[in-house]
Amino acid sequence: MERKKLYIQTFGCQMNVQDSEKMAALLEGSGYDTTDDADLADLIILNTCSIREKAAQKIYSQLGRYHALKEQKPHLRIGVGGCLAQQWGERFFRRAPELDLVFGTHQIHRLPEIVGALEKEGERRVETDLCDRVHSLTIPAQPTAGAVSTFVTIMQGCDNFCAYCVVPYLRGREESRPMTEIIGEVEKLAERGIREVTLLGQNVNSYGQKGSDCRDFTDLLTAIGGVSGIERIRFTTSHPKDLSPRLIDCFGKVAPLCEHIHLPVQSGSDRILNAMNRGYTAEMYLEKVAALRHACPGISITSDVIVGFPGEEDADFEATLALMREVRFDNLFSFQYSEREGTAAAAMNRKVSAGVKRERLRILQDLQAVHTLERNRSSIGRTEAVLIEGPSKKESREVTGRTRGNRIVNFEGEKGLIGKTVFVRITEAFPHSLRGEMEAKGAADVH
Ligand code: 5AD
Ligand code: SF4
Repeated sequence: MERKKLYIQTFGCQMNVQDSEKMAALLEGSGYDTTDDADLADLIILNTCSIREKAAQKIYSQLGRYHALKEQKPHLRIGVGGCLAQQWGERFFRRAPELDLVFGTHQIHRLPEIVGALEKEGERRVETDLCDRVHSLTIPAQPTAGAVSTFVTIMQGCDNFCAYCVVPYLRGREESRPMTEIIGEVEKLAERGIREVTLLGQNVNSYGQKGSDCRDFTDLLTAIGGVSGIERIRFTTSHPKDLSPRLIDCFGKVAPLCEHIHLPVQSGSDRILNAMNRGYTAEMYLEKVAALRHACPGISITSDVIVGFPGEEDADFEATLALMREVRFDNLFSFQYSEREGTAAAAMNRKVSAGVKRERLRILQDLQAVHTLERNRSSIGRTEAVLIEGPSKKESREVTGRTRGNRIVNFEGEKGLIGKTVFVRITEAFPHSLRGEMEAKGAADVH
């Protein structure tokens, strides 16, 4: 049978990147090889995101382009998966009549069967049931050849229902993957040359509370810390309310656990945090930050903030800036509030105007730029262990890697060093990266 070509375009978060890799692996068995060129494809899949309206807009405009392609190539089939597909279901066909398939976040494992039926019957299909179990959780990660670092999904779904967030409706309830399965996968990855794993889930701190063999996230971290060949462990994303003293203790105790945490705060105003249903106050957040810094001096802390949540006044926004000044985040991802259908915040009054949101975001990002540069500059003169991930994008004689605190470092070095950890003395700091010089002692097997 002649092989067909599959083009997958991924939008949104790392969970989607992982899911796309799983889709490609599953459809290989149905006769599809992946291509980087949409023009050559027999099947195009858009793995979609719905976290903010902007993400959705991008997807609609991309679909318009594929529609034109289909007019020249009638046998081309186009499918949408992921969060926006889950949200829109059947209604997606009205927006995009060229679509052949809409499949949801819990249907990935059935993709070969669904695509098979589409090919045989030729009729457009919608598959968006949410199940009790996320079957695709058990499909192993498929890192690209030669990769040094990869993501491993450990749980999926979210039970928190933050008022702005559409995720619990589109990814379903929390479910954890059994610990033995995760360890087995990490061992295999280490054998294939992976040196760094990032444990992935919507709320990794609540790992093990549902659907696994009753061990918690710290047990998992400790066990992965013992896998030979794994030099670095990271995780994302953590919810501040679930960041336990036991987990904080892991920093400094589990040797490969990197000195970095992404801990989304969302706002510095107690009134807004309460309206968001976050389950903590600004003071509680600051206490966790202090505990992290006590357990692990120098730890990098990054965060997410939303500006312009319904009812946010100048004083609330000022409280967010004050929290930022107090914490001095190493990096911050900031967003204008975007109304999502079906969430609690969509029904709230006192929406903030687009102009005010834009202005607040600008002020916040200007402040963060100062903090990021200040934190980057504090690395100058230090010697850092850097895991080399690949050649530098700009300079042919340079390689690029990351510090344990998750800062990007470029420096002169042989391509043969890719995958190794070396010591680099930091000489320069930029807004998004560092530059340094490799120390004479060179490659090191360090934690
Ligand atoms: N509007 C704006 N930002 C949002 N996020 C999640 N939902 C929304 C929304 N409706 C942000 C949060 C979250 C990050 C992944 O995206 O800050 O931590
Ligand atoms: Fe959304 Fe809150 Fe769950 Fe994060 S913790 S996925 S922001 S509901």
